[in-house]
Amino acid sequence: MTTPFLSNGKTSFSAPFLEQTLNRRPRRNRQTAAIRGLVQETFLHPGQLVSPLFVVEGKGVQQSINSMPGVYRYSLDLLLKEVIALHRLGIRAVDLFCYVPNEKKDGDGSEAVRQGNLLQQAIQFLKQEIPDVCLMVDIALDPFTTHGHDGVVNQQGVVDNDATLVMLAKMSILAAEAGADIVAPSDMMDGRVGYIRTALDQAGFSSVGILSYAAKYASAFYGPFREALNSAPKFGDKKGYQMNPANVREAIMECQLDEQQGADMLLIKPALAYLDVIAKVREVTTLPIGAYHVSGEYAMVMAAAQNGWLDAQRVFEECLISIKRAGADFILTYAAKQVAEALSKK
Ligand code: PBG
Repeated sequence: MTTPFLSNGKTSFSAPFLEQTLNRRPRRNRQTAAIRGLVQETFLHPGQLVSPLFVVEGKGVQQSINSMPGVYRYSLDLLLKEVIALHRLGIRAVDLFCYVPNEKKDGDGSEAVRQGNLLQQAIQFLKQEIPDVCLMVDIALDPFTTHGHDGVVNQQGVVDNDATLVMLAKMSILAAEAGADIVAPSDMMDGRVGYIRTALDQAGFSSVGILSYAAKYASAFYGPFREALNSAPKFGDKKGYQMNPANVREAIMECQLDEQQGADMLLIKPALAYLDVIAKVREVTTLPIGAYHVSGEYAMVMAAAQNGWLDAQRVFEECLISIKRAGADFILTYAAKQVAEALSKK
């Protein structure tokens, strides 16, 4: 072998030396767009994006949310327009959240289980107008409670697991009656998937699916969402039910429990800071996995983009493809529309 360093101190890169050491040149597969396309491993498809949507009372209402530029609360009429626009872009699933005015909130979140509430109206209306859209509904009490916790709070100030299950099951049945395709419990109470499954089946809704927020972490990334729904906890935090960000074995256990209880799909949330969790759960379940690219993940990118520091659309595409690469099948994201628009132009 020729030595690259000659006695006169000059460097020589001789052809035989390179041939011996560079028999693999990965750049060859990156040379043209056509070749890059052939070897691409992961894809983003609008049919695997879910758009979370915020519903508000009224008519002709479109309210912006300070910390989530480009995201709005819509009254039913404008909500329908938005869902139609999403559908045209190939986004065929939405996840509904309700903005509840303070005067309708109470300690038990009873508005959540009131027949004819805004959530029920929204589901009924959308199902009737565009029946082939998959309607997911978030199941938890926090938008409906004065204290902002996801469940019923007992006299010791603790979220009462089993009392909450009853409310969640009622909420799920109301959603099913209105025409929801999938209920998505996001409360992290123990045993709720089995409890809701039984309740739905007994009420005759065996075809309504459960997307379980199986591994939901107590995350600071939910801040903008809580602004959107005015649902921040008024005392304490959610660490007594949502998971510790330091844990991954526990996430696997949560996913396995929800699978045993009859979950149809599992959700990991947030997404980007938890890609390892998605990858590990992917290895131990055959169920479809969703990831929730949450409000704070959206807000960070939009804030930087508004300062001219990042190209939001490219960053979102990169974030979402990473989430897919980690093992998620579908993604709930506030960037769904932006990304689908970009994909449609490619
Ligand atoms: C309610 C719920 C939250 C989110 C989805 N469902 C907030 C929370 O748990 O405090 C967060 C979504 C987001 O940040 O985009 N249980």
